[in-house]
Amino acid sequence: MNIVEIINKKRLKGKLSKEELSFMFNGYLEGKIKDYQMSSLLMAICINGMDEEEIFDLVDIFIKSGDVLDLSSINGIKVDKHSTGGVGDKVSLIVGPIVASLGIPFPKMSGRGLGHTGGTIDKLESIKGFNTSLTEEEFIKQVNDIHFAITGQTKNLCPLDKVIYALRDVTGTVESIPLIAASIMSKKIAGGADKILLDVKVGDGALMKTMEDAKKLANLMEKIGKFYHRDVHALITDMNTPLGDNIGNSLEVIEAMDILKGKKSPLRDLCIEEASHLVSMAKNISLEESEKEVIQTLDSGKAFDKFLEFVKYQHGDIKSLEVSFKTIDIKSTKEGTLNKIKTLNLGMLSVNLGAGRISKEDKIDHKVGIVLKKHLNDYIKKGDILCTLYVNKDITINPDDYFEIV
Ligand code: URA
Repeated sequence: MNIVEIINKKRLKGKLSKEELSFMFNGYLEGKIKDYQMSSLLMAICINGMDEEEIFDLVDIFIKSGDVLDLSSINGIKVDKHSTGGVGDKVSLIVGPIVASLGIPFPKMSGRGLGHTGGTIDKLESIKGFNTSLTEEEFIKQVNDIHFAITGQTKNLCPLDKVIYALRDVTGTVESIPLIAASIMSKKIAGGADKILLDVKVGDGALMKTMEDAKKLANLMEKIGKFYHRDVHALITDMNTPLGDNIGNSLEVIEAMDILKGKKSPLRDLCIEEASHLVSMAKNISLEESEKEVIQTLDSGKAFDKFLEFVKYQHGDIKSLEVSFKTIDIKSTKEGTLNKIKTLNLGMLSVNLGAGRISKEDKIDHKVGIVLKKHLNDYIKKGDILCTLYVNKDITINPDDYFEIV
């Protein structure tokens, strides 16, 4: 097979056979296809898409690139959740402890930041000592012991997704329905959970910008789940404003703890909604009953205790969390109503401050980020602080690039 012919075929909107997909993708994993050749194919897929047969073939190739976890030694119905990625999305750090504190096993495999969206593994690595590379045995034992574990992809789980994910992150090839569906669903199927909740984000700060695309992605992922006999439910949720006030790794862990300790906010409401769906799926009870259990475990402090237990179990020192001591307040130059928070731009700003990667080799600065001080529809006076940047370098920004005040 000829690499350039395959790339050209997709560039010209052709359909790739399973053999051609396997040749390119498995070849990349084996080091036979170069970064620049794979990037070119990924870009052609981003632009010209794939049909359903190609997508199902790609999912199969991703899954078979490694092991499928056997979670049968974990007692009970195992649940998992996955977000398609957002700005300030620390929901897993809140929903996981809530669900686990109700005795439901929550084995979660998470990823790093992708494009302008943050990743749970990067957030957890802002806690000194936290082990994000559990072996399969450690992962299973921990879920049996405390009902909750989060790990990066274990060494041999969808290794193909791991390398493609890292390449997409730095080549502008993130926003593709086929590539997102293959990436998420291969990990979720190989991850072994029985019931899976997908949070498909839509809006300015999401990978899916329109409701039409979000529905397409949600339906496609549910269809893939069904094919592999998994109970998959997809929610579509708003990403036109960051989730919560904090963006950036340490800052997001701190905010997740605030919510677990009782802080009220729209972020808490979303976490209650997602946790309720998971509890309802796991226990086969109504959403209303589930919601009562979720609020009760949050209010009792049990979910927060579960978070601390989880961090300790994975060798993290929660007291080590640090944010940058250098801060810059961004002040409004206008008076009026905060009409729009430009979420994508804030996500990119966070990456540029060092909270995400611009090239594959980049090291993240866990201490940097953004704290929003104003919310949509707030009345803003000239000189009001709109957000505070936690930085490791001097930077000047134009507030109009991030906030629309009318
Ligand atoms: N999350 C993933 O795991 N993969 C994607 O492609 C997007 C979000």
